[in-house]
Amino acid sequence: MGARFFADLASKYAAYVDAYRAFPSLALPPMMELKRVHTAHVVDNAKLIAEGEGFDAETARACEAAALLHDTGRYEQLKRYNTFRDSDSVDHAVFSHDIVVEKGWLDGDPQREAILTAVLVHNRRDVPDGLDPLTEAAVHTVRDADKLDIFRVLEHQIATTDWRTNCKAFWNLPTTARPSPAVLDAIRASRPVDYQDIKTLADFVLIQVGWMVCGLRYATSRRLCAERGHLAFRRTFLHELTDDPAVDEICDLAAAIGARG
Ligand SMILES: [Fe+2]
Repeated sequence: MGARFFADLASKYAAYVDAYRAFPSLALPPMMELKRVHTAHVVDNAKLIAEGEGFDAETARACEAAALLHDTGRYEQLKRYNTFRDSDSVDHAVFSHDIVVEKGWLDGDPQREAILTAVLVHNRRDVPDGLDPLTEAAVHTVRDADKLDIFRVLEHQIATTDWRTNCKAFWNLPTTARPSPAVLDAIRASRPVDYQDIKTLADFVLIQVGWMVCGLRYATSRRLCAERGHLAFRRTFLHELTDDPAVDEICDLAAAIGARG
């Protein structure tokens, strides 16, 4: 029943995404295709987390569904506002939640509320307190699965862009400046980094090292992160950006937490 439910939901989702193609046979606009591929990876990551954490079949089903739906609003966001920047358009998590409600894809489903909540809060700095166990599992699985794929996306971007000359590809952040003290202090204190404190490309990369310190909820997520070499990639890249000794200090902190599992 879990597999059938997911297959039905996935075909509704695919039909929804197909509507953003000029013709059904045509490719999506490239930025939308990136989100479609991202979503497929987030679903795969969510499956691995649910397996690794030994979730029961019903919980795993909610996690996979929430992963599939978490960025539903990205296509319409790009179409309407021509940007993925929420601050210049809409909160894409709220937008995704509202589209899923409007489409009625989860109507009558006993896990509807848990899945919708996971979609709604997937991008929030802080997760609401007092969630029931099913909702909590769906919320944290999607957030971890999303971060794991954002690691992949950054590495792909660095590998395929000339970041030294094309700083536009990296949010116009200065590429050779040192990390900002506020960012380093937040990570040292195991606090999420405030996005307003991001002043340099090193800060942007360090946010993700900060996720390895305190942003991955499940041991399975930390294991996948370690197996995929995401910390090593960031350490090497940060050394290209700056010779600030804080880079090794923060990366060592993340490595110690990763080794603990
Ligand atoms: Fe998202």
